[in-house]
Amino acid sequence: MEQKRIAIVTGASSGMGREFVRQIDRHTRTIDEIWAVARRKERLEELEKEIKNCSVRIFPLDICKENQLDGLEEALLQANPGVRILVNAAGVGTAGAFDGMTRQDALRMVELNDMALVAVTHMALPYMTNPGHIIQLASASAFLPQKEFAVYAASKAFVLSFSRALNEELKKKGVRVTAVCPGPVDTEFLDICNQGMKPKPLKRLVMAKPEPVVAKALRDAKEGREISIYGLPMKGVYAAARLLPQSLLLKLM
Ligand SMILES: NC(=O)c1ccc[n+]([C@@H]2O[C@H](COP(=O)([O-])OP(=O)(O)OC[C@H]3O[C@@H](n4cnc5c(N)ncnc54)[C@H](OP(=O)(O)O)[C@@H]3O)[C@@H](O)[C@H]2O)c1
Repeated sequence: MEQKRIAIVTGASSGMGREFVRQIDRHTRTIDEIWAVARRKERLEELEKEIKNCSVRIFPLDICKENQLDGLEEALLQANPGVRILVNAAGVGTAGAFDGMTRQDALRMVELNDMALVAVTHMALPYMTNPGHIIQLASASAFLPQKEFAVYAASKAFVLSFSRALNEELKKKGVRVTAVCPGPVDTEFLDICNQGMKPKPLKRLVMAKPEPVVAKALRDAKEGREISIYGLPMKGVYAAARLLPQSLLLKLM
């Protein structure tokens, strides 16, 4: 039997993860099956019905729970697929002062944004094809420390640093790693992050839709870029973070 060429997408029940599934299905001819991972089963089932070209296999599981992650590892072992694309889009943010948030909320960001991302990447790696693409959802928050978003920004700085180093490590195997670093994107993420409150006016002004952010990320990944930044405002933030002292930027923010 021929080896199946698959894409694995975490965070597939909503926002950018769901959009990655849609666009991979529409534009990528080299994928037979998409493995869609998230906790909400009904959402994954709805997505499965919508997808036309690839077959979809859903994995309703919590990737922060080691025993549930085993289900994904077992499926990889059984199917022995070729993973052409891995998208780690599952993520969470809680805004606000560090001393005002619960320990659970603070730790959840590190557990999902970092630990689970490392776990899924490590799990998928032996199955990655040459060429293969790993797309890690970081954030423009990765570019500099952020007051009242301290844990989230640090968790995304981890993703950016990890992705860049891994990209160098994996080049010889034909696997490229792209860190996606958007600014605010109009998804459920912002409702969860701001606990239902409207984002600040400046954030609303630079807010992007998930579709073009994902389209650019897929293009950048195809071109082997190590970082994907959508839109001029976030490119400006990236440049400023490289040129100006962090102490000044922290004060300005
Ligand atoms: N939206 C933004 O402004 C923005 C900006 C920059 C970067 N990002 C990053 O982009 C990525 C995607 O965000 P988004 O905007 O698309 O957010 P979203 O719409 O809230 O989607 C988050 C996804 O993560 C999944 N998820 C959460 N906890 C999980 C768990 N324990 N196990 C498995 N899946 C879990 C959610 O599904 P279930 O609830 O069904 O599990 C959902 O599918 C995140 O890493 C985020 O940090 C977002």
